[in-house]
Amino acid sequence: MDKFVINGGNKLYGEVSVSGAKNAAVAIIPAVVLSDEPCVIENLPKIKDVSVILAILEHMGAKVRKVDGDDSRVEIDPRGITSHKVTCEKLVGDMRASYYLLGALLGKFGKAVVPFSGGCSFCERPIDLHLKAFETLGAKTNICPNRIELSSERLEGRPIYFDVVSVGATMNAMLAAVKVPGRTIIDRAAKEPHIVDLANFLNSMGANIKGAGTDVIKIRGVEKLHSCTYSIIPDQIEAGTYMAAVAAAGGNVLIKDVIPEHLDSITAKLRDTGTLVEEYDEAVRVVRENTLKSCNVKTMPHPGFPTDMQPQFVALLSTANGRSRVMECVWESRFSYIPQLRKMGADIIENGNTAHIYGKQRLTGAKVRALDLRAGAAMVIAGLSAEGITEIADIKYIERGYEKIIEKLTSIGADIRRVTYKEDIEDDL
Ligand code: UD1
Repeated sequence: MDKFVINGGNKLYGEVSVSGAKNAAVAIIPAVVLSDEPCVIENLPKIKDVSVILAILEHMGAKVRKVDGDDSRVEIDPRGITSHKVTCEKLVGDMRASYYLLGALLGKFGKAVVPFSGGCSFCERPIDLHLKAFETLGAKTNICPNRIELSSERLEGRPIYFDVVSVGATMNAMLAAVKVPGRTIIDRAAKEPHIVDLANFLNSMGANIKGAGTDVIKIRGVEKLHSCTYSIIPDQIEAGTYMAAVAAAGGNVLIKDVIPEHLDSITAKLRDTGTLVEEYDEAVRVVRENTLKSCNVKTMPHPGFPTDMQPQFVALLSTANGRSRVMECVWESRFSYIPQLRKMGADIIENGNTAHIYGKQRLTGAKVRALDLRAGAAMVIAGLSAEGITEIADIKYIERGYEKIIEKLTSIGADIRRVTYKEDIEDDL
């Protein structure tokens, strides 16, 4: 087993580049299933979730080839996928986003059989809205103990209304509807940057999708989708995590290869803490010299403050001067990592969906766990700013979503290393 060991207290200086967006990649790769020709996807992040979804497609019969030996540029030829059944339970169980295969296979074959997916489980993660969208288009759903089966006689474009704004259900509805005859209108669609990216990718293959990025997405079904070369957007949450890391540790870092507008809500909250954020065309500079000020944060669907930045901000605000309040309004519960921050001296009281944070100047290094991807990122941020050594176990979660995090943080001056350990001597964590 490996863990991260951080010797906290170094300020961060220099430049760091952001990789392609995980949450766009894990939807765009399954979307290739819908094409009748090979597609080249560029700017893929080199992370576990991407290698798993590519392995699932290969297992289904697709040919996957690195272009020019570069992991971030991959050609996927879906023509060998001839069955609507996904049989590699183990791989699917490794990642939550494999539910996008439901929409993609339903759109291609009019039916799908996909094992239940795993991935980050910081709380109950229902998919009732995904299934409702498929049913609206004419599919029958059958939930078996370990898999979901979709079947249909005839799918037809219809209006779909979501009573909860859901990223996954919006993406899955787009995937299912893109080749369905007629007009599908998705009302109360999610507006995250990766929704727009998926729509842009599908349109590059010949789809007819309008309105992605607004509340209403209109899809006119097309018969065929063709090859294209498409470059994935930069990862909003990876960028936000490095921004929060610089604010927590102090210093001056240029964060490159970002779309600054995607970071607006994060930038606004960092500015509330007294952190300077300068925006350029494709970069942001984050400078933190003075003591952090407290602030209040409320997570909301895009363009609100992203829930996937909530744990990192709780870690950051643990060292701000004064009392901050962080409300989680997307997920029912997403504070299970707070006891890990308390081990480092953070003073946080949870009350329902609100964390009350009584900031103190310095946290202290401790042995902690990464409970999920973003909770793990929060531990890294806490460790970078803390006094002394922080050891983070279960880093497999962090590596699902952050490409070369050790190398990137080291390049801007952090003292962080990966260390192999024997699990049985670490059970005091
Ligand atoms: C995606 C992101 C995840 C992020 C979340 C919210 C990916 C792979 N994951 O997850 O990192 O935290 O968006 O920005 O992109 N809901 C239902 N029924 C459903 C689906 C969702 O009630 O069928 C509820 C959820 O319980 C939650 C809310 O809708 O309260 C938002 O969830 P959703 O946007 O669907 O999250 P994911 O797409 O799973």
